[in-house]
Amino acid sequence: MKLDEKFFAEIAENYGTPLYIYDADEIRTKVNSAKQVFTGLDARIFFALKANSNPHILKLFKDLGINADVVGPVEIESAKRCGMAEMILNGNGKTTSTRDYFLNSGGKLVSMDSLEEIGLWQKSRITKFLRINPDIYAGGHPNISTGGRNHKFGVTPQEAEKVADKLSGLHVHIGSQITTTDPYEAAYSKVIQLSNRLGFSWLDIGGGWGIKYQEDELDPIEFRRRVVPILSNFKGKIVVELGRFLVATAGFLLLRVSEVKRAGKVFVVTDGGMNVLIRPAMYDAWHRISTIGPKGKLGRCDVVGPLCETGDVLAKDREMEIPEPGALLLIENTGAYGFSMASNYNGFPKPAEVMLENGKTKLIRQRETVEDLFRGIPPIL
Ligand SMILES: Cc1ncc(COP(=O)(O)O)c(C=O)c1O
Repeated sequence: MKLDEKFFAEIAENYGTPLYIYDADEIRTKVNSAKQVFTGLDARIFFALKANSNPHILKLFKDLGINADVVGPVEIESAKRCGMAEMILNGNGKTTSTRDYFLNSGGKLVSMDSLEEIGLWQKSRITKFLRINPDIYAGGHPNISTGGRNHKFGVTPQEAEKVADKLSGLHVHIGSQITTTDPYEAAYSKVIQLSNRLGFSWLDIGGGWGIKYQEDELDPIEFRRRVVPILSNFKGKIVVELGRFLVATAGFLLLRVSEVKRAGKVFVVTDGGMNVLIRPAMYDAWHRISTIGPKGKLGRCDVVGPLCETGDVLAKDREMEIPEPGALLLIENTGAYGFSMASNYNGFPKPAEVMLENGKTKLIRQRETVEDLFRGIPPIL
């Protein structure tokens, strides 16, 4: 299927906007690439559902032999319903109901985040990791850097060592959108040295592989060349938790331009903003945007959404052919942390999602309706 302007114009006509579109073949390509990196190691790949938990995407992962990295009850239920073979439960401050949901759903692996959490799993005969914080700063933005000394995740290696008899292994996840191998080399050398000394047979190496939004990306070949030799010093079972790398490039967000406002500068206003894609507002993220349909000359503009918030921006001072009202904007690399972070802020229903597979499009989530948002609210009058 050719993903050209005509295709996107038709799909917007058929399904409306804002709309998320995912290319199943691109997900398959990324899964194969990740599998190749770990060839020769006793490694199993888990998909971090926080990146995208649409059940049809999860079914695709299940069919490709990928397991589930889950945090909350809906992620647990989604992984279970899609038949994903194994689940690892992650996150800090897990509630009693999340722990029970996980165990009742047959979950077998947990990453504990604190010494305080260890006692809560004492009676459960499952594989227990303790997350360590190696004091390494990495990741595409401070909000997605997780391995630094003052970040809320994990415990120090010294603290972990004291409770080694209660653990099956250690876990380390230093951040997301990491584009070089250096922080991985440093973190994994540290955690493997400790794991070997403590005689563990399991290790969870987290995820974080960065993709090419604008410039840098993590090169899986480089990861294999530089990081896998370090990992091969660990002789046990390895858990890998990848989110963004497996789905980001498969996703497109289609928006329609509702207004082009000239007031000092040019504002291209679309029918979805930080409520459908929060990454630019939250992480200063850059996404490629192209116009489909009527457009004028090259110029500079802010691409913004319709929400009552100055931060409701999709691109700032972007040079592009200024679209006219009614044109479509295609926002690329939105398969990860796009829909999964969408909200109903300012009272907008969430977008529909469509999958491209075998030359056909398939609706995989209906557009939310206003009525959907009143479900569960007791009668008012
Ligand atoms: C514990 C853990 N594992 C894995 C991931 C997946 O990260 P990414 O999508 O960058 O691969 C995350 C996300 O931040 C995480 O918190």
